[in-house]
Amino acid sequence: MLDVVWLGGNIASMEAGAGPWGAIRDAALGVRDGRVAWIGPRAALPAPPGSMAREVRDFAGQWITPGLIDCHTHLVYGGDRAHEFEMRLQGASYEEIARAGGGIVSTVKATRASDEGSLLASAMRRLAALTAEGVVAVEIKSGYGLDVETELKQLRVARRLGDEAGVTVRTTFLGAHALPAEFAGRADDYIDFVCTDSMPAAVEAELPDAVDAFCESIAFSPAQTERVFRRAAELGLAVKLHADQLSDLGGAALAARHGALSADHLEYTGEAGAKAMAAAGTVAVLLPGAFYTLRETKLPPIDLFRRHGVPIAIATDSNPGSSPATSILMMLNMACTLFRMTPEEALAGATRNAAMALGMQATHGTLAEGKAADFCLWDIADPAELSYRIGFNPLSTVVRAGNPT
Ligand code: NIG
Ligand code: FE
Repeated sequence: MLDVVWLGGNIASMEAGAGPWGAIRDAALGVRDGRVAWIGPRAALPAPPGSMAREVRDFAGQWITPGLIDCHTHLVYGGDRAHEFEMRLQGASYEEIARAGGGIVSTVKATRASDEGSLLASAMRRLAALTAEGVVAVEIKSGYGLDVETELKQLRVARRLGDEAGVTVRTTFLGAHALPAEFAGRADDYIDFVCTDSMPAAVEAELPDAVDAFCESIAFSPAQTERVFRRAAELGLAVKLHADQLSDLGGAALAARHGALSADHLEYTGEAGAKAMAAAGTVAVLLPGAFYTLRETKLPPIDLFRRHGVPIAIATDSNPGSSPATSILMMLNMACTLFRMTPEEALAGATRNAAMALGMQATHGTLAEGKAADFCLWDIADPAELSYRIGFNPLSTVVRAGNPT
């Protein structure tokens, strides 16, 4: 006996190889114990719906998608960087601001000075903006603490956000995000500190699900990144990488060599990087909000990723500097308009491939038997509308573990 069977709508299941959108028209979806227990065309139901389930519900002619997943955010931080936005509009570059002591390290100061309650409150407002657009799972990175205490504080806040908002949270330790002032001129010593102090402390407190680093000329070198990844492997954590955002340091191939779940940004990635990612099953996480905010002109190599079969995910990169964005629907639009992805690729990027980028594809990202009954009802006539409209939210209902919220 099912708990509920839903009828009377169209499902974009986003299952791979199931035709455009994995679409099922005039669909039925049965839920038992918070999971999808039956999905298919209504006409294929084995018995009358009323006899199969305790309750029958109506999709009201809407489109249903898997719950959306934002697989790359820096949602927890203190302060803001509106002033740097003004500076960039006057002509300063992101790198110049970073080298002059602004950028990430200015958010580090503000985050160290913020207590847990105020970090929770400010991040909760940003998370609410995401969930209002159908986000049911979000990845949240540390990286604005850079000392043990503040890195742990950020990760604890990330976990509390999930508990209090009823959202699935995956946490990522990003100690190697920038060089803190107390290690100025001593980047290798700071990497020692990450490997022997902050990362093990985070693991000891059971706070991170994965480890990330920023491999870039204004951050850490490939050799320093490799040390972080080797330590993560010793501690049993999956890795991801901010790679090839502002220059090609071979970050994509490095991430692939370490079996990374994802490599993210990737504007400067070349063919060798794309091939290595394909072979390793590393997801390309593209971040159109950062591309747009920094007014980048070098496009990530979408065609190479397509040609080599690298799964492409799309995320907000929500952060106070390079992407002060809290709209996943806007990212879908930008993925199409700026990166020339198709609306179907964009939606796969915030569902199926985003789940892969977080290693949660067994339970999330598509609608299929056995997966979590986390889905969105949209008042739209065509799933392409999710990326076509700008600043309009057609979400009507979010269902989590089978329950409308
Ligand atoms: O994903 N690239 C490095 N990290 C962030 C930016 C963080 C910041 O500017 O505060 C990013 O773009
Ligand atoms: Fe980022």
